[in-house]
Amino acid sequence: MEAMQQAAINTVGIKRIGVLTTGGDCAGLNAAIRAVVRRAAGHYGLEVLGIHQGTNGLMEDPPRAEALTLSMSDAGLLRAGGTILGSVNRGNPFAFPLPDGSLEDRSPLIHAGAARLGLDAIIGIGGDGSMRILNRLMKTGPFPFVGIPKTIDNDLGATEYAIGHHTAVEVAMEALDRLQPTAASHGRIMVLEVMGRDAGHIALAAGIAGGADVILLPEIPWRMAPVAAAIRQLRERGRNFALVVVAEAVRSAEGETVLAGPAAPGAMPRLGGVGASIAHALEEATGAEARVTVLGHVQRGGSPGALDRIVASAMGVHAVDLAVRGRFGRIVVWREGRVGDAPVEDAAGEARPVDPAGDMVRAARGLGICLGDQ
Ligand code: F6P
Repeated sequence: MEAMQQAAINTVGIKRIGVLTTGGDCAGLNAAIRAVVRRAAGHYGLEVLGIHQGTNGLMEDPPRAEALTLSMSDAGLLRAGGTILGSVNRGNPFAFPLPDGSLEDRSPLIHAGAARLGLDAIIGIGGDGSMRILNRLMKTGPFPFVGIPKTIDNDLGATEYAIGHHTAVEVAMEALDRLQPTAASHGRIMVLEVMGRDAGHIALAAGIAGGADVILLPEIPWRMAPVAAAIRQLRERGRNFALVVVAEAVRSAEGETVLAGPAAPGAMPRLGGVGASIAHALEEATGAEARVTVLGHVQRGGSPGALDRIVASAMGVHAVDLAVRGRFGRIVVWREGRVGDAPVEDAAGEARPVDPAGDMVRAARGLGICLGDQ
């Protein structure tokens, strides 16, 4: 295997590799950057450039990049939250929003920036929107690209795990661990609103891990009657509190998606606030006191958990191995406990929502957790 890769590198002739992070940040990005540097510089002897602010760094003149060396890829980076390279989560470069509201195709600047840096390969760590953009850049000019999936939402089609998801679940689980005693002390319903955009993976996993009584997901339409009945049943069994996990894209009791505010130019609509409306409706339906906690970006920050460190490290190594073999247009994936790769289109296409007939939903129902539909 090693010999094959070494032979391949001589065939493809890569000397300098770029790495960038793009889209919303999450825990584990630095662990992936570290793995790329260790594999590329430490094993293959390549030069590694870290590109700042995602593809925006390549648009600038001169491009914004720094040399990433083995000495900086120590274990501190493995533990660090955020991304040392910075990131952007708005502004499609093919229709880049300008201050006057008009849109400009800035992709030629990105191709020029990559050429100017002399990049033989680019490893892009991003979510579905970023993969679409990076793939299009590869098709419209010289942009030899390999993807690494990251998103706390874990909704990329191609892979079972994306970097950042596990840590977000751990943070939400810890929030439930902390909410439970205070809920029990005051006899309250605690509503925890978690991120995840249109996918309920964080809510479902954290709800199961954190002992939720009710989990409301965007994938399963809910009604107040079964939720109120579940809470009444808990009371009848002598329980004085309830833990309710709500995914941010769930509709309110009135059937509305709740937005935290207007979207910035070129950005997605900002979800947030549905937990408060559900807590209020729960008070009215059950007569119990309810409080709401909105976790927000706490789920994205901080040190990555063990599984995110492992996934990020394995993916970073595999991405470099793909690049030196000239396997561009591929994205690293995690399937059935193994690292592999797939065409990037698989991750840039349809999102992967929670399967209402899948094992995790079955487990939740088996535990007696109310999912709001029955
Ligand atoms: O996609 C990741 C995510 O954290 C979503 O779960 C959330 O809705 C969104 O990004 C928040 O985006 P922003 O950082 O722009 O507020």
